[in-house]
Amino acid sequence: MSVIENSKLTVVGAGSVGASVAYAALIRGSARHIALYDIATAKVEAEVLDLAHGTQFTGASDITGGSDISVVEGSHIVVVTAGAKQNPGQTRIELAGVNARIIASMMPQLLEVAPHATYVLVTNPCDVLTVLAAEASGLPHNRIFSSGTVLDTSRLRWKLAQRAGVSTSSVHAYIVGEHGDTEFPLWSTATIGTVPILEWETAEHPRMTVDELDAIAIDVRDAAYKVIQGKGATNYAIGLSSARIVEAVLNDEHAVMPVSTVLTDYHGIDGIALSVPSIVSASGAVPIAQTPYSERELGLLERSATALGDVVESLRG
Ligand code: 2OP
Repeated sequence: MSVIENSKLTVVGAGSVGASVAYAALIRGSARHIALYDIATAKVEAEVLDLAHGTQFTGASDITGGSDISVVEGSHIVVVTAGAKQNPGQTRIELAGVNARIIASMMPQLLEVAPHATYVLVTNPCDVLTVLAAEASGLPHNRIFSSGTVLDTSRLRWKLAQRAGVSTSSVHAYIVGEHGDTEFPLWSTATIGTVPILEWETAEHPRMTVDELDAIAIDVRDAAYKVIQGKGATNYAIGLSSARIVEAVLNDEHAVMPVSTVLTDYHGIDGIALSVPSIVSASGAVPIAQTPYSERELGLLERSATALGDVVESLRG
């Protein structure tokens, strides 16, 4: 349970992602009070009831919610999941126009009732929306950020853990950049335990090759497309990723996570939100300036920045 007494998380949006964030937070006890807010009254009330009906089997957290904006009042952290979701074959960027309008109309209302909260955007394209929401809200960049590539990093660690024959928590590797098609792994600093990734081998697990790592990176990049093709959405893993970010903030953990903040003078990148390893605490998220990058990785970071900058510009139009 959180170090903040009576900590409150509000999840905005009661679709499959929002409900999964609330479900994961409830099971993990990420906050003392969890609220679910959506303008669709019948849907949000049904999701809250379904979640509440299981609280005999969870910890001390409670769950409330509804379609009145007052639900959000008193939140220490707000996770925004509202918006259109990807259809099979659609990219996250294709949602930019419609979801930018939704976020633009919603942010002032949220800020009015929860002016002191930390805001975590999950709605896609999350990097683009973080720039627009940060500008519209005037919040400092540490207090409005996105879940970014925390999920992609978990996908990467799961795959590497299976291949290397170790637990996921023993894989130290990050996906950074856009949460989307230009994301990439920081292979130059990736390790299994303390062993550089290309040097890891055991009796049952031979060394990985550069080609194999490239294939893993592509698989991770395209993972959401595969899940969406099969079941229409991704929800459980983003629910868990978001609950974990909430805990890092409410517990003032200073945990290192690749969340996406609007960057300032970060290897020449300014005013674009990208995921890079950041310290996540009660103060929000702060990118780690001294993260080492190879020359190739810096080029890929720049490529993500350019791609996302173009989308932001087109929306400002
Ligand atoms: C995901 O990566 C679709 O952004 C969502 O699962």
